[in-house]
Amino acid sequence: MNVMEKLIEVSRFLKNGGIEDSAKEAEILITETLQISKTRLYSSDLEISEDISKNIDSLIIRRAKREPLQYVIGHVEFCGLRINVGRGVLIPRPETELLVKEALKTVASYRLQTTSSKKQGSELRTPPPKVSLPLVTPCSPLKILDLCTGSGCIAIALARYLPDAMVYGVDKSETAISYSIKNSFDNGIKNVYFVVGDLFGPVGDTRFDCIVSNPPYISRLKIPYLQKEIKDYEPVDAFDGGEDGLYFYRRIIKEAPEYLKERGHVVLEIGHDQADDVEKMAREAGFGDIRFAKDYAGIRRVFIGRPRK
Ligand SMILES: C[S@@+](CC[C@H](N)C(=O)[O-])C[C@H]1O[C@@H](n2cnc3c(N)ncnc32)[C@H](O)[C@@H]1O
Repeated sequence: MNVMEKLIEVSRFLKNGGIEDSAKEAEILITETLQISKTRLYSSDLEISEDISKNIDSLIIRRAKREPLQYVIGHVEFCGLRINVGRGVLIPRPETELLVKEALKTVASYRLQTTSSKKQGSELRTPPPKVSLPLVTPCSPLKILDLCTGSGCIAIALARYLPDAMVYGVDKSETAISYSIKNSFDNGIKNVYFVVGDLFGPVGDTRFDCIVSNPPYISRLKIPYLQKEIKDYEPVDAFDGGEDGLYFYRRIIKEAPEYLKERGHVVLEIGHDQADDVEKMAREAGFGDIRFAKDYAGIRRVFIGRPRK
């Protein structure tokens, strides 16, 4: 069968199955299966074998049952990295790239401030690193903690753009941690370490320059109304933020000061309507220097702040 005939067949099948962007998804499924570029797809008279055609059919059947496209093809692009995903791990969302960008900006200005205050002989005290996590080396002075790391996308992106930092990712799901470890290997990122545990549980006495997190933040009451792709396929523990969606922010904001170095920051992705609540709880917990980063729609989606000690 000719590849263009297959493309039309797949597109029709997905459309009849109620997939909105059926033409685009058909294109992705075929180029991914054949490992060819879009240009090659449209410029060649490629013949495909019976076996390949059947393979494509098995993928479109999964997609028509509303399995997310990213699970069907097995990966997603995030901050220029290829992140493997599958059942049991949350698919990284494009909005989370904003968290990475803000964390990088925050770390850059923190570095400037801590370096200049050290030069001025200020009284700022950086607690001696009480190391309890492995792989901390003397040449990795900057330490970042990514709570609820999932696929490891945030931790791996930060580690890639901060090669002299050591980034730790924690997740309570063993499946997520096995994905994050594979993702770090596949992307050739070595300055990252992943561990299974409940939030700060595995951290011990280590103190960090920056704590980042995209925790579960959907109100439990809204979960039954989520898109079928999400509620039937992605792990519920990845989005269940308790009854009001704020459970993890309460815990992280309360516990973070114990794990931060002086002047260290917390950077959190938040839901589109959670900025006021998160700001209130952070102020009550003694945080200052609070700001929010907005997405393209002008909505506050990333919280940045630090405990004033
Ligand atoms: C919204 S997902 C974020 C995944 C990833 N950081 C991202 O941005 O794509 C939240 C993650 O929190 C994890 N999680 C849920 N409860 C947790 C807990 N008590 N301690 C650590 N991780 C937890 C879930 O397994 C899930 O991987």
